[in-house]
Amino acid sequence: MTRILFYGHPLPGMTEERLPGKLVVVEGTDGVGRSTQIALLREWLEANGFAATETGLTRSELAAAGLKKAKRGHTMGDLTMNLFYATDFVDRLEKQIIPALRAGFVVITDRYIYSLIARAQVRGVDPQWIRAVLGFALVPDVVFYLKIDVEHLLPRVLNSRGFDYWESGTDYLRGDDLYENYVKHQTQLIQQLDALADEYQFHVVDANRGVPEIFRALRAGIENAIDDMQAVTDAPPPARAPRRSRKPAARPASRSAARPAPGASPAPPAVAGPPAPSDPPPA
Ligand SMILES: Nc1ncnc2c1ncn2[C@@H]1O[C@H](COP(=O)(O)OP(=O)(O)O)[C@@H](O)[C@H]1O
Ligand SMILES: [Mg+2]
Repeated sequence: MTRILFYGHPLPGMTEERLPGKLVVVEGTDGVGRSTQIALLREWLEANGFAATETGLTRSELAAAGLKKAKRGHTMGDLTMNLFYATDFVDRLEKQIIPALRAGFVVITDRYIYSLIARAQVRGVDPQWIRAVLGFALVPDVVFYLKIDVEHLLPRVLNSRGFDYWESGTDYLRGDDLYENYVKHQTQLIQQLDALADEYQFHVVDANRGVPEIFRALRAGIENAIDDMQAVTDAPPPARAPRRSRKPAARPASRSAARPAPGASPAPPAVAGPPAPSDPPPA
């Protein structure tokens, strides 16, 4: 159950006080391992009977294509770029996040307003202004912050996608050495995120570790966050088949395996429910 609270002005038209889903944010700098962990968390949630969905920056119908184009052209100023990201964010809030929370999903978001605030602040944008612009953001149930040192971050980025223009801060740093820019920009971003962790009370997870250790920490945190939610486990238990041999079945038991062997006394129906299409009509 998410309590509807906004950081600033409420989103127009929101009248509910609570929604049945949960809003879980995974924050952290570029290349720290957010996508890796979110994929694992989603799989784990679904395997345990919780409907889960994912969203992230620049994934809105309204602004994603325009934002990508704007980033390719490097033509917009900081304020315009921040307003564009805010547009992307509010569109996803209205059309993806809130509807999914209403439907009882655990919504995992790959970054939230905090990355937008951190990126704006390292570029010298007024901290009060950016917070006011993003004030319509719903307060999440939990924010996991994957906290990493630049020394641990470097090999992850070098071994995967390499240094990106924006992730190296080349749009605002004057130097032309991509490596130096990257270290400088990421050091500043991490400092900003560390300060935001205090301001917004993030759940800090040490991301200098390996994937399994980080996953275990996140899983424990999510278990705690969703402890008042009900897992969907209403699938009927499989009907018990009388054992014919001690050999383990090669395939998963199907409904037809529940039919008694010829000549055996019929077993009492274990599960009440409609017959499967392949079942023969009752004699
Ligand atoms: N804990 C970890 N230790 C080492 N490498 C990692 C770890 N987590 C992710 N990686 C690797 O780092 C790279 C970036 O991970 P990714 O999940 O795409 O990061 P993000 O989504 O935060 O940008 C990938 O090659 C991934 O396999
Ligand atoms: Mg990613």
